Amino acid sequence: MLVKLPLVAAAAFATAATAAAVPATDDVALMKKNIIQRLERRASNGMVKRNSLTTGADDATILNFALTLEHLENTYYSEALAKFSAADFEAAGYTGLYPLLEQVAADEASHVGFLTAALKAAGVTPVEACKYSFPYTDVTSFLGLTQVIEGVGVSAYLGAAGDISEADYVTAAGSILTVEARHNAFVRFLNNYTPFPAAYDTPQSATNVVTIVTPFFTSCPEGSAPTIKGKSGLNVTTTEFTLGGDLQVTPANASAVPAGTTVYCGFASGLNAAFTAWNDGTCKIPTENITIGQTYVVVTTGPSLEDKYTLAGPAIIDTTPKNSSVTIPAPAGAASMSMSMSSASASGSAAAASAAPAGLAATNAAVSGKQMAGAAGLFAALVGGLAVLL
Ligand SMILES: *[C@@H]1O[C@H](CO)[C@@H](O)[C@H](O)[C@H]1NC(C)=O
Ligand SMILES: *[C@@H]1O[C@H](CO)[C@@H](O)[C@H](O)[C@H]1NC(C)=O
Ligand SMILES: *[C@@H]1O[C@H](CO)[C@@H](O)[C@H](O)[C@H]1NC(C)=O
Ligand SMILES: *[C@@H]1O[C@H](CO)[C@@H](O)[C@H](O)[C@H]1NC(C)=O
Repeated sequence: MLVKLPLVAAAAFATAATAAAVPATDDVALMKKNIIQRLERRASNGMVKRNSLTTGADDATILNFALTLEHLENTYYSEALAKFSAADFEAAGYTGLYPLLEQVAADEASHVGFLTAALKAAGVTPVEACKYSFPYTDVTSFLGLTQVIEGVGVSAYLGAAGDISEADYVTAAGSILTVEARHNAFVRFLNNYTPFPAAYDTPQSATNVVTIVTPFFTSCPEGSAPTIKGKSGLNVTTTEFTLGGDLQVTPANASAVPAGTTVYCGFASGLNAAFTAWNDGTCKIPTENITIGQTYVVVTTGPSLEDKYTLAGPAIIDTTPKNSSVTIPAPAGAASMSMSMSSASASGSAAAASAAPAGLAATNAAVSGKQMAGAAGLFAALVGGLAVLL
Protein backbone atom coordinates (compact mmCIF):
# COMPACT_ATOMS: atom_id res chain seq x y z
CA MET A 1 0.00 0.00 0.00
CA LEU A 2 2.74 2.42 0.95
CA VAL A 3 4.40 2.17 -2.43
CA LYS A 4 1.20 3.05 -4.15
CA LEU A 5 0.38 6.15 -2.10
CA PRO A 6 2.28 8.57 -4.38
CA LEU A 7 -0.08 7.49 -7.16
CA VAL A 8 -3.03 8.79 -5.18
CA ALA A 9 -1.26 12.08 -4.66
CA ALA A 10 -0.41 12.26 -8.35
CA ALA A 11 -4.05 11.66 -9.25
CA ALA A 12 -5.12 14.47 -6.95
CA PHE A 13 -2.71 16.88 -8.61
CA ALA A 14 -3.75 15.76 -12.07
CA THR A 15 -7.36 16.48 -11.20
CA ALA A 16 -6.49 19.84 -9.71
CA ALA A 17 -4.70 20.75 -12.95
CA THR A 18 -7.67 19.74 -15.06
CA ALA A 19 -10.06 21.53 -12.77
CA ALA A 20 -8.14 24.80 -13.17
CA ALA A 21 -9.63 25.14 -16.66
CA VAL A 22 -13.13 25.07 -15.18
CA PRO A 23 -14.69 28.28 -13.80
CA ALA A 24 -14.39 28.37 -10.01
CA THR A 25 -17.50 26.90 -8.48
CA ASP A 26 -18.50 24.78 -5.57
CA ASP A 27 -21.29 23.25 -7.57
CA VAL A 28 -21.03 19.56 -6.74
CA ALA A 29 -23.15 18.56 -9.71
CA LEU A 30 -20.65 20.21 -12.04
CA MET A 31 -17.72 18.40 -10.44
CA LYS A 32 -19.52 15.10 -10.84
CA LYS A 33 -20.32 15.90 -14.44
CA ASN A 34 -16.67 16.65 -15.17
CA ILE A 35 -15.45 13.39 -13.69
CA ILE A 36 -18.15 11.39 -15.45
CA GLN A 37 -17.34 13.03 -18.78
CA ARG A 38 -13.68 12.10 -18.38
CA LEU A 39 -14.69 8.54 -17.53
CA GLU A 40 -16.85 8.42 -20.66
CA ARG A 41 -13.89 9.54 -22.76
CA ARG A 42 -11.70 6.88 -21.19
CA ALA A 43 -14.38 4.23 -21.73
CA SER A 44 -14.53 5.11 -25.40
CA ASN A 45 -10.73 4.78 -25.50
CA GLY A 46 -11.17 1.24 -24.20
CA MET A 47 -9.09 1.84 -21.06
CA VAL A 48 -11.60 1.25 -18.33
CA LYS A 49 -11.43 -2.52 -18.32
CA ARG A 50 -7.67 -2.78 -18.12
CA ASN A 51 -6.82 -5.39 -15.51
CA SER A 52 -4.95 -4.30 -12.44
CA LEU A 53 -1.69 -6.11 -11.83
CA THR A 54 -2.39 -7.14 -8.29
CA THR A 55 -5.83 -8.73 -8.21
CA GLY A 56 -6.90 -9.06 -11.81
CA ALA A 57 -10.09 -7.21 -10.90
CA ASP A 58 -10.90 -4.51 -13.42
CA ASP A 59 -11.99 -1.02 -12.40
CA ALA A 60 -15.61 -1.75 -13.30
CA THR A 61 -15.64 -4.70 -10.89
CA ILE A 62 -14.06 -2.61 -8.15
CA LEU A 63 -16.51 0.28 -8.64
CA ASN A 64 -19.43 -2.15 -8.71
CA PHE A 65 -18.18 -3.61 -5.43
CA ALA A 66 -18.03 -0.08 -4.00
CA LEU A 67 -21.60 0.41 -5.22
CA THR A 68 -22.60 -2.85 -3.50
CA LEU A 69 -21.39 -1.36 -0.20
CA GLU A 70 -22.95 2.04 -0.86
CA HIS A 71 -26.34 0.40 -1.51
CA LEU A 72 -25.97 -1.36 1.83
CA GLU A 73 -25.11 1.88 3.67
CA ASN A 74 -27.84 3.81 1.88
CA THR A 75 -30.49 1.29 2.93
CA TYR A 76 -28.98 1.07 6.41
CA TYR A 77 -29.52 4.79 7.07
CA SER A 78 -32.83 5.20 5.27
CA GLU A 79 -34.32 2.27 7.21
CA ALA A 80 -32.98 3.54 10.54
CA LEU A 81 -34.28 7.07 9.94
CA ALA A 82 -37.69 5.59 9.12
CA LYS A 83 -37.58 3.32 12.17
CA PHE A 84 -36.42 5.97 14.66
CA SER A 85 -37.74 9.52 14.90
CA ALA A 86 -35.92 12.65 16.03
CA ALA A 87 -37.79 12.17 19.33
CA ASP A 88 -36.40 8.64 19.69
CA PHE A 89 -32.85 10.00 19.40
CA GLU A 90 -33.70 12.77 21.85
CA ALA A 91 -35.15 10.28 24.32
CA ALA A 92 -31.87 8.35 24.09
CA GLY A 93 -29.97 11.57 24.91
CA TYR A 94 -28.94 12.63 21.40
CA THR A 95 -30.71 15.94 20.93
CA GLY A 96 -29.98 17.45 17.51
CA LEU A 97 -28.56 14.26 16.04
CA TYR A 98 -31.38 13.40 13.64
CA PRO A 99 -30.67 16.13 11.05
CA LEU A 100 -27.00 15.17 11.06
CA LEU A 101 -27.90 11.57 10.35
CA GLU A 102 -30.18 12.79 7.57
CA GLN A 103 -27.11 14.46 6.07
CA VAL A 104 -25.15 11.21 6.36
CA ALA A 105 -28.03 9.35 4.69
CA ALA A 106 -28.07 11.95 1.91
CA ASP A 107 -24.31 11.47 1.41
CA GLU A 108 -24.77 7.71 0.99
CA ALA A 109 -27.68 8.21 -1.43
CA SER A 110 -25.49 10.60 -3.41
CA HIS A 111 -22.64 8.05 -3.51
CA VAL A 112 -25.07 5.46 -4.90
CA GLY A 113 -26.20 7.90 -7.59
CA PHE A 114 -22.66 8.91 -8.45
CA LEU A 115 -21.25 5.38 -8.75
CA THR A 116 -24.31 4.26 -10.71
CA ALA A 117 -23.83 7.13 -13.15
CA ALA A 118 -20.07 6.51 -13.40
CA LEU A 119 -20.57 2.80 -14.17
CA LYS A 120 -23.26 3.56 -16.75
CA ALA A 121 -20.95 6.14 -18.31
CA ALA A 122 -18.32 3.41 -18.61
CA GLY A 123 -20.81 1.10 -20.30
CA VAL A 124 -21.08 -1.24 -17.31
CA THR A 125 -24.33 -2.47 -15.71
CA PRO A 126 -24.43 -1.14 -12.13
CA VAL A 127 -25.48 -3.54 -9.35
CA GLU A 128 -28.84 -2.91 -7.69
CA ALA A 129 -29.70 -2.71 -4.01
CA CYS A 130 -30.25 -6.00 -2.17
CA LYS A 131 -32.43 -6.76 0.86
CA TYR A 132 -30.62 -6.58 4.16
CA SER A 133 -31.11 -7.32 7.82
CA PHE A 134 -29.21 -5.29 10.42
CA PRO A 135 -28.86 -6.49 14.00
CA TYR A 136 -29.66 -3.28 15.90
CA THR A 137 -32.64 -2.93 18.18
CA ASP A 138 -32.52 0.61 19.55
CA VAL A 139 -30.78 3.95 19.05
CA THR A 140 -27.76 2.87 21.11
CA SER A 141 -27.12 -0.38 19.28
CA PHE A 142 -27.77 1.43 15.98
CA LEU A 143 -25.01 3.93 16.77
CA GLY A 144 -22.70 1.08 17.80
CA LEU A 145 -23.27 -0.76 14.54
CA THR A 146 -22.95 2.49 12.57
CA GLN A 147 -19.45 2.99 13.97
CA VAL A 148 -18.41 -0.48 12.80
CA ILE A 149 -20.08 -0.20 9.37
CA GLU A 150 -18.53 3.19 8.60
CA GLY A 151 -15.16 1.82 9.72
CA VAL A 152 -15.57 -1.12 7.35
CA GLY A 153 -16.47 1.33 4.56
CA VAL A 154 -13.21 3.19 5.12
CA SER A 155 -11.23 -0.06 5.16
CA ALA A 156 -12.96 -1.32 2.00
CA TYR A 157 -12.17 1.83 -0.01
CA LEU A 158 -8.59 1.83 1.28
CA GLY A 159 -8.17 -1.82 0.40
CA ALA A 160 -9.44 -1.22 -3.14
CA ALA A 161 -7.52 2.02 -3.76
CA GLY A 162 -4.28 0.32 -4.71
CA ASP A 163 -6.02 -1.90 -7.27
CA ILE A 164 -7.74 0.86 -9.24
CA SER A 165 -6.05 1.41 -12.60
CA GLU A 166 -7.41 4.78 -13.64
CA ALA A 167 -6.33 7.92 -11.80
CA ASP A 168 -9.77 9.50 -12.17
CA TYR A 169 -11.36 6.56 -10.43
CA VAL A 170 -8.83 6.81 -7.62
CA THR A 171 -9.80 10.45 -7.17
CA ALA A 172 -13.52 9.66 -7.24
CA ALA A 173 -13.13 6.79 -4.75
CA GLY A 174 -10.86 8.92 -2.54
CA SER A 175 -13.43 11.70 -2.54
CA ILE A 176 -15.96 9.25 -1.12
CA LEU A 177 -13.48 7.59 1.24
CA THR A 178 -12.67 10.79 3.11
CA VAL A 179 -16.36 11.47 3.71
CA GLU A 180 -16.91 7.93 5.01
CA ALA A 181 -13.96 8.52 7.35
CA ARG A 182 -15.64 11.69 8.63
CA HIS A 183 -18.91 9.83 9.24
CA ASN A 184 -16.93 7.19 11.10
CA ALA A 185 -15.06 9.76 13.20
CA PHE A 186 -18.28 11.53 14.14
CA VAL A 187 -20.05 8.37 15.29
CA ARG A 188 -16.97 7.18 17.15
CA PHE A 189 -17.03 10.49 18.98
CA LEU A 190 -20.73 10.13 19.83
CA ASN A 191 -19.98 6.67 21.20
CA ASN A 192 -17.17 7.98 23.45
CA TYR A 193 -14.42 6.50 21.31
CA THR A 194 -11.70 8.84 20.14
CA PRO A 195 -12.59 9.90 16.57
CA PHE A 196 -9.01 9.39 15.32
CA PRO A 197 -7.52 6.49 17.28
CA ALA A 198 -4.44 6.04 15.10
CA ALA A 199 -2.26 7.79 12.55
CA TYR A 200 -3.18 5.24 9.86
CA ASP A 201 -6.45 3.61 8.82
CA THR A 202 -6.59 -0.09 7.99
CA PRO A 203 -7.07 -1.38 4.44
CA GLN A 204 -9.04 -4.61 4.03
CA SER A 205 -9.27 -6.93 1.03
CA ALA A 206 -12.56 -7.33 -0.80
CA THR A 207 -12.68 -10.94 0.44
CA ASN A 208 -12.47 -9.76 4.04
CA VAL A 209 -15.09 -7.09 3.48
CA VAL A 210 -17.44 -9.67 1.96
CA THR A 211 -16.90 -11.94 4.98
CA ILE A 212 -17.87 -9.07 7.26
CA VAL A 213 -20.95 -7.84 5.36
CA THR A 214 -22.36 -11.15 4.07
CA PRO A 215 -24.48 -11.71 7.20
CA PHE A 216 -26.33 -8.45 6.47
CA PHE A 217 -27.56 -9.67 3.07
CA THR A 218 -30.85 -11.54 2.97
CA SER A 219 -31.47 -11.59 -0.81
CA CYS A 220 -30.31 -9.83 -3.96
CA PRO A 221 -31.73 -9.24 -7.43
CA GLU A 222 -30.16 -11.45 -10.10
CA GLY A 223 -26.59 -10.29 -10.75
CA SER A 224 -26.35 -7.94 -7.76
CA ALA A 225 -25.02 -10.25 -5.03
CA PRO A 226 -21.30 -9.84 -4.22
CA THR A 227 -19.40 -12.01 -6.69
CA ILE A 228 -16.43 -12.47 -4.36
CA LYS A 229 -16.74 -15.32 -1.88
CA GLY A 230 -16.02 -14.61 1.79
CA LYS A 231 -14.63 -16.93 4.46
CA SER A 232 -16.18 -18.50 7.55
CA GLY A 233 -17.13 -15.99 10.22
CA LEU A 234 -15.54 -15.90 13.67
CA ASN A 235 -17.27 -16.22 17.01
CA VAL A 236 -15.76 -13.82 19.54
CA THR A 237 -16.78 -14.38 23.14
CA THR A 238 -14.41 -11.89 24.81
CA THR A 239 -16.25 -8.68 25.73
CA GLU A 240 -13.38 -6.36 26.73
CA PHE A 241 -10.51 -5.87 24.30
CA THR A 242 -7.17 -4.63 25.61
CA LEU A 243 -3.74 -4.68 24.02
CA GLY A 244 -1.94 -7.67 25.53
CA GLY A 245 -5.21 -9.18 26.77
CA ASP A 246 -6.77 -12.53 25.90
CA LEU A 247 -9.08 -12.98 22.92
CA GLN A 248 -11.47 -15.92 22.70
CA VAL A 249 -12.09 -16.42 19.01
CA THR A 250 -13.37 -19.50 17.16
CA PRO A 251 -14.36 -20.05 13.54
CA ALA A 252 -18.15 -20.27 13.35
CA ASN A 253 -17.56 -23.25 11.09
CA ALA A 254 -15.48 -25.55 13.29
CA SER A 255 -14.14 -27.45 10.25
CA ALA A 256 -12.54 -24.25 8.93
CA VAL A 257 -9.42 -25.12 11.00
CA PRO A 258 -7.96 -28.44 9.81
CA ALA A 259 -6.73 -30.65 12.67
CA GLY A 260 -3.00 -30.54 13.33
CA THR A 261 -2.41 -27.20 11.58
CA THR A 262 -0.35 -24.46 13.24
CA VAL A 263 -2.73 -21.53 13.40
CA TYR A 264 -2.34 -17.85 14.26
CA CYS A 265 -4.55 -14.94 15.06
CA GLY A 266 -3.62 -12.26 12.54
CA PHE A 267 -4.39 -8.64 13.42
CA ALA A 268 -4.66 -5.90 10.78
CA SER A 269 -4.07 -2.51 12.40
CA GLY A 270 -3.27 0.54 10.25
CA LEU A 271 -0.66 -0.56 7.71
CA ASN A 272 0.76 -3.14 10.10
CA ALA A 273 0.18 -6.81 10.74
CA ALA A 274 0.70 -8.69 14.00
CA PHE A 275 0.40 -12.38 14.78
CA THR A 276 -0.02 -14.38 17.94
CA ALA A 277 -0.39 -18.13 18.39
CA TRP A 278 -3.95 -19.45 18.31
CA ASN A 279 -4.55 -22.39 20.61
CA ASP A 280 -7.93 -24.00 20.70
CA GLY A 281 -9.92 -20.81 20.58
CA THR A 282 -7.64 -18.43 22.46
CA CYS A 283 -4.93 -16.00 21.39
CA LYS A 284 -3.36 -12.87 22.84
CA ILE A 285 -4.14 -9.43 21.47
CA PRO A 286 -0.61 -8.31 20.55
CA THR A 287 1.17 -5.32 22.02
CA GLU A 288 3.38 -4.53 19.04
CA ASN A 289 2.46 -3.59 15.45
CA ILE A 290 -0.99 -2.69 16.71
CA THR A 291 -2.65 0.50 17.87
CA ILE A 292 -6.03 1.21 19.41
CA GLY A 293 -8.91 1.57 16.94
CA GLN A 294 -11.01 -0.71 14.77
CA THR A 295 -8.89 -3.82 14.26
CA TYR A 296 -9.56 -6.82 12.03
CA VAL A 297 -8.73 -10.29 13.35
CA VAL A 298 -8.43 -13.39 11.19
CA VAL A 299 -7.52 -16.95 12.00
CA THR A 300 -4.74 -17.76 9.58
CA THR A 301 -2.15 -20.40 8.75
CA GLY A 302 0.16 -17.34 8.23
CA PRO A 303 1.97 -15.49 9.63
CA SER A 304 0.46 -13.54 6.73
CA LEU A 305 -2.72 -11.55 6.23
CA GLU A 306 -3.03 -12.56 2.58
CA ASP A 307 -6.47 -13.95 1.74
CA LYS A 308 -5.01 -17.30 0.68
CA TYR A 309 -3.79 -18.08 4.22
CA THR A 310 -6.97 -16.94 6.00
CA LEU A 311 -9.09 -19.78 7.38
CA ALA A 312 -11.81 -17.64 8.97
CA GLY A 313 -12.70 -14.05 9.68
CA PRO A 314 -12.17 -11.21 10.02
CA ALA A 315 -13.93 -10.42 13.23
CA ILE A 316 -13.84 -6.81 14.37
CA ILE A 317 -12.53 -5.70 17.73
CA ASP A 318 -11.81 -2.23 19.06
CA THR A 319 -9.22 -1.75 21.77
CA THR A 320 -9.94 1.96 22.21
CA PRO A 321 -10.78 3.00 25.80
CA LYS A 322 -14.27 4.53 25.78
CA ASN A 323 -13.32 7.65 27.68
CA SER A 324 -13.29 10.35 25.01
CA SER A 325 -15.23 13.43 26.03
CA VAL A 326 -15.35 17.01 24.79
CA THR A 327 -17.55 19.92 25.72
CA ILE A 328 -17.93 22.47 22.94
CA PRO A 329 -18.51 25.97 24.26
CA ALA A 330 -21.73 27.65 23.16
CA PRO A 331 -21.69 30.80 21.02
CA ALA A 332 -22.82 33.99 22.76
CA GLY A 333 -26.57 34.02 23.34
CA ALA A 334 -27.18 30.29 22.99
CA ALA A 335 -28.71 28.72 26.03
CA SER A 336 -27.47 25.15 25.83
CA MET A 337 -24.91 24.00 23.33
CA SER A 338 -23.32 21.15 25.14
CA MET A 339 -21.71 18.33 23.24
CA SER A 340 -20.57 16.55 26.33
CA MET A 341 -20.37 12.83 26.17
CA SER A 342 -18.32 11.86 29.15
CA SER A 343 -19.58 9.45 31.74
CA ALA A 344 -19.07 12.16 34.34
CA SER A 345 -21.44 14.69 32.77
CA ALA A 346 -24.61 12.79 32.06
CA SER A 347 -26.30 15.01 29.51
CA GLY A 348 -27.00 18.44 28.18
CA SER A 349 -25.21 20.59 30.71
CA ALA A 350 -25.37 24.27 29.77
CA ALA A 351 -21.98 25.30 28.53
CA ALA A 352 -20.03 28.52 28.83
CA ALA A 353 -21.75 31.18 26.80
CA SER A 354 -18.74 32.65 25.06
CA ALA A 355 -15.53 31.87 23.24
CA ALA A 356 -17.03 29.41 20.76
CA PRO A 357 -14.66 28.70 17.93
CA ALA A 358 -16.28 30.49 14.99
CA GLY A 359 -18.50 28.21 12.99
CA LEU A 360 -17.95 25.17 15.16
CA ALA A 361 -21.04 25.04 17.28
CA ALA A 362 -23.67 25.81 14.68
CA THR A 363 -27.12 25.61 16.20
CA ASN A 364 -28.33 22.73 14.10
CA ALA A 365 -25.18 20.76 14.77
CA ALA A 366 -25.44 20.76 18.54
CA VAL A 367 -25.80 17.29 19.91
CA SER A 368 -26.19 16.76 23.58
CA GLY A 369 -25.05 13.28 23.95
CA LYS A 370 -25.07 10.76 26.65
CA GLN A 371 -22.79 7.96 27.57
CA MET A 372 -23.22 4.76 25.71
CA ALA A 373 -24.15 2.70 28.69
CA GLY A 374 -23.43 -0.97 28.52
CA ALA A 375 -21.37 -0.58 25.39
CA ALA A 376 -18.68 -2.94 26.63
CA GLY A 377 -20.02 -6.08 25.05
CA LEU A 378 -21.25 -4.40 21.92
CA PHE A 379 -18.46 -5.39 19.58
CA ALA A 380 -18.43 -8.98 20.73
CA ALA A 381 -22.21 -9.05 20.51
CA LEU A 382 -22.10 -7.62 17.02
CA VAL A 383 -19.42 -9.95 15.78
CA GLY A 384 -21.09 -12.88 17.48
CA GLY A 385 -24.35 -11.79 15.92
CA LEU A 386 -22.73 -11.64 12.52
CA ALA A 387 -21.24 -15.08 12.97
CA VAL A 388 -24.66 -16.53 13.80
CA LEU A 389 -25.88 -15.57 10.37
CA LEU A 390 -22.93 -16.98 8.42
C1 LIG B 1 -20.63 -19.80 16.63
O1 LIG B 1 -21.77 -19.13 17.17
C2 LIG B 1 -22.99 -19.61 16.62
C3 LIG B 1 -24.08 -18.76 17.22
O2 LIG B 1 -23.92 -18.60 18.57
C4 LIG B 1 -23.20 -21.09 16.94
O3 LIG B 1 -24.36 -21.55 16.35
C5 LIG B 1 -22.00 -21.87 16.40
O4 LIG B 1 -22.11 -23.22 16.78
C6 LIG B 1 -20.72 -21.30 16.93
N1 LIG B 1 -19.61 -22.02 16.36
C7 LIG B 1 -18.70 -22.66 17.12
C8 LIG B 1 -17.65 -23.42 16.38
O5 LIG B 1 -18.71 -22.62 18.33
C1 LIG C 1 -16.93 -25.51 6.75
O1 LIG C 1 -15.57 -25.57 6.36
C2 LIG C 1 -15.25 -26.70 5.60
C3 LIG C 1 -13.75 -26.71 5.39
O2 LIG C 1 -13.34 -25.51 4.77
C4 LIG C 1 -16.03 -26.67 4.29
O3 LIG C 1 -15.74 -27.82 3.54
C5 LIG C 1 -17.52 -26.63 4.60
O4 LIG C 1 -18.24 -26.48 3.41
C6 LIG C 1 -17.84 -25.46 5.53
N1 LIG C 1 -19.22 -25.51 5.95
C7 LIG C 1 -20.05 -24.51 5.78
C8 LIG C 1 -21.42 -24.67 6.30
O5 LIG C 1 -19.71 -23.46 5.21
C1 LIG D 1 5.88 -6.81 14.12
O1 LIG D 1 6.43 -6.55 12.85
C2 LIG D 1 7.78 -7.03 12.67
C3 LIG D 1 8.24 -6.55 11.31
O2 LIG D 1 7.34 -6.97 10.33
C4 LIG D 1 7.80 -8.54 12.83
O3 LIG D 1 9.12 -9.02 12.73
C5 LIG D 1 7.21 -8.93 14.19
O4 LIG D 1 7.11 -10.33 14.29
C6 LIG D 1 5.83 -8.32 14.34
N1 LIG D 1 5.27 -8.62 15.66
C7 LIG D 1 4.18 -9.36 15.81
C8 LIG D 1 3.69 -9.53 17.22
O5 LIG D 1 3.58 -9.88 14.90
C1 LIG E 1 -8.35 7.19 28.04
O1 LIG E 1 -7.71 6.18 28.80
C2 LIG E 1 -6.43 5.81 28.30
C3 LIG E 1 -5.96 4.60 29.09
O2 LIG E 1 -6.12 4.82 30.45
C4 LIG E 1 -5.48 7.00 28.36
O3 LIG E 1 -4.22 6.65 27.84
C5 LIG E 1 -6.07 8.12 27.51
O4 LIG E 1 -5.28 9.26 27.62
C6 LIG E 1 -7.49 8.44 27.97
N1 LIG E 1 -8.06 9.39 27.00
C7 LIG E 1 -8.83 10.40 27.38
C8 LIG E 1 -9.34 11.26 26.29
O5 LIG E 1 -9.08 10.64 28.55
